[in-house]
Amino acid sequence: MLGKPLKDALMIGVALACGLTTAGASAPADAPVNLPPDPGKAVVTKTCQSCHDLDMVTEARHTAPEWTSVIQRMRANGAELSDDEAKQAQAYLVKVYGKSG
Ligand code: HEC
Repeated sequence: MLGKPLKDALMIGVALACGLTTAGASAPADAPVNLPPDPGKAVVTKTCQSCHDLDMVTEARHTAPEWTSVIQRMRANGAELSDDEAKQAQAYLVKVYGKSG
């Protein structure tokens, strides 16, 4: 899916950063953080705003089990998510729009 181009961009960024920080020099404070782009974010952006605004998602706060059931309900509503995508979306939503308890 969108993994490849993003990954390529990331690798170029890393290569640049390495090229700029010559032997032994410590990495500059603004060096790109080598975190993988979150696949769950891509899934949510792609699938969760076809029926309602993304606000509906970003304004919600749910615990991990609640997000699991929200996603199940959205699939029942007609959201097209593979099992993998559902898991990725759930993990992302728990991380970013989670609530404890
Ligand atoms: C096929 C249409 C459709 C898609 C796609 C869809 N939704 Fe929904 N969503 C609804 C409908 C209809 C409601 C209101 C009824 C309900 O809550 O089931 C709703 C309500 C919600 C709510 C508010 C209710 C609550 O319990 O907080 C949240 C949050 C939500 N959706 C999240 C998502 C997420 C996350 C995705 C992507 C995984 C998604 N939706 C994709 C149709 C959809």
